[in-house]
Amino acid sequence: MNDDNKTTPSDPLLLNHEYDGIRELDYPLPGWWLTTFFITIIFGIIYWIHYDLSGAGPTLSQELEKDMAQIESLRNKAAADAPQVTEEALAALVQNSDAVTKGQAEYMAKCAACHGNAGEGLIGPNLTDKYWKNTDGTLVGMHKIVVHGVVEKGMPAWKGLIPDNLIKNVAAYIHSLQGSNPPNAKGAEGTLYE
Ligand code: HEC
Repeated sequence: MNDDNKTTPSDPLLLNHEYDGIRELDYPLPGWWLTTFFITIIFGIIYWIHYDLSGAGPTLSQELEKDMAQIESLRNKAAADAPQVTEEALAALVQNSDAVTKGQAEYMAKCAACHGNAGEGLIGPNLTDKYWKNTDGTLVGMHKIVVHGVVEKGMPAWKGLIPDNLIKNVAAYIHSLQGSNPPNAKGAEGTLYE
């Protein structure tokens, strides 16, 4: 062991003490490391004051609420922007022979089994008379019943099974059957709507 080093360190970083021959080098942490370290402390304090102490910052559930409200408003907007099914729009389809023909083809494929090839009624009610069980005989009402069905009574809901536009055509086709008096017509069911 060199006794000189004990009192007068030659290396400027070497500290002036010794423990059982072990000497300490004063080697400061690098500036970039310390800077980062202090920044994290300052950030932590500001964060704590902002979110915890003052309650100014939004909590996670408040942020979720805000996002959900935004989604909800977008949904409402989309629903409001969607083309409305009106009596006039459907009445225009009744006059459109192309739409009615398409509606007829879909009717034959999906509805005739229960309502008869001519709408005279089979398992389901007669669609050619003025008596209705679930609707008031308007085109909008007809459209609605085809979209939502009367599931508990055996009338399927067709939304998603038939494209939206085609459902309108089918409603127009059914409307065109009004008063057609097909053979073997099923008796009146429901209420008379003139
Ligand atoms: C599985 C059999 C079945 C099929 C397929 C079916 N329906 Fe029906 N539908 C019914 C039954 C049963 C009712 C009567 C429900 C009730 O008793 O309230 C009905 C009721 C209706 C009504 C209302 C009648 C009224 O008096 O209020 C309309 C309109 C109608 N169906 C249209 C259609 C159209 C259009 C299709 C094809 C896209 C279709 N249905 C396919 C069984 C069927």
